[in-house]
Amino acid sequence: DLPARVRIYEVGARDGLQNEKATVPTEVKAEFIRRLADAGLTTIEATSFVHPKWVPQLADAEQLYPQVADLPVALPVLVPNERGLDRALALGARHVAVFASATESFAKANLNRTVDESLAMFEPVVRRAKDAGSAVRGYVSMCFGDPWEGPVPVHQVVRVCKALRDMGCDELSLGDTIGVATPGHVQSLLAGLNEEGVPTSALGVHFHDTYGQALSNTLAALQHGVATVDASAGGLGGCPYAKSATGNLATEDLVWMLQGLGIDTGVDLGRLTATSVWMAGRLGRPSPSRTVKALGTT
Ligand code: HMG
Ligand code: MG
Repeated sequence: DLPARVRIYEVGARDGLQNEKATVPTEVKAEFIRRLADAGLTTIEATSFVHPKWVPQLADAEQLYPQVADLPVALPVLVPNERGLDRALALGARHVAVFASATESFAKANLNRTVDESLAMFEPVVRRAKDAGSAVRGYVSMCFGDPWEGPVPVHQVVRVCKALRDMGCDELSLGDTIGVATPGHVQSLLAGLNEEGVPTSALGVHFHDTYGQALSNTLAALQHGVATVDASAGGLGGCPYAKSATGNLATEDLVWMLQGLGIDTGVDLGRLTATSVWMAGRLGRPSPSRTVKALGTT
């Protein structure tokens, strides 16, 4: 029932660092990404080509990307619109991600658009990215609950997922942006998507750990057959435009669980933990991950 292999989609350098109050120097970001690759992660989201005023923490995307572009790993980047895609393609990006919302409130807060306006904004981005030979991921935020609207009905998520697939997104990532999901809700969303023709093979999950449910939710998704899991080294993360969003599922917590389940990830947990301890030192506060605390040497 469980997948034999899980692809970990590492988001620490993007989802993690976009939320840091202090600006992390570009060189530190590049070293973070290099160390993550060295620990065996093969998909490492590097940065975002968004408006620099909206996310000043990632305003150095043009400087950072060339410093890591030679790594033998996939380096997806976020692109909200054609301007972002142009910037990413100019640097040779081969993996891009658009990011939609299942709710109107978050579409407005995060993209300054309605849900439909933002889908219309993504349409040429996805088409042009595919034409340029890039793989395209479609994120859907607020798949479970929204800080302004409360619980999010499954049909709202299904509608946005189907629109992104019709545009040509290769995979979707179901975001629990504020970390309110529980395992039963995860299973009913996945089943609802399947019923509407969205296959599990096209789905990844993206849990934030606000209520400590990220790992339980991940296990529920794995039991449903999901084989792509987003996680953030050391549990860094959050979203500046979603109040009450905390860190992502920590990659170390995920790897520890998957090792116990006998599921192959290719990640060296010792090197990964050392990287998160090193990064915590740069950020000046300890990682919230229990696994990092248990295994970390400082
Ligand atoms: P807007 O203000 O509506 O922009 O923002 P606009 O389209 O009206 O353009 C205004 C000006 O910005 C123009 O310049 C554009 O060229 C420029 P002017 O002509 O006035 O001189 N501009 C840009 N410049 C550089 N790069 C760009 C770009 N786009 C426009 N890409 C916009 C709309 C989408 C740009 C803005 O809302 C934005 O950047 N939002 C990004 C927010 C963000 O990054 N949020 C975090 C990521 S999502 C997340 O974390 C959730 C996730 O983890 C999953 C989960 O947890 O649920 C993925
Ligand atoms: Mg996120």
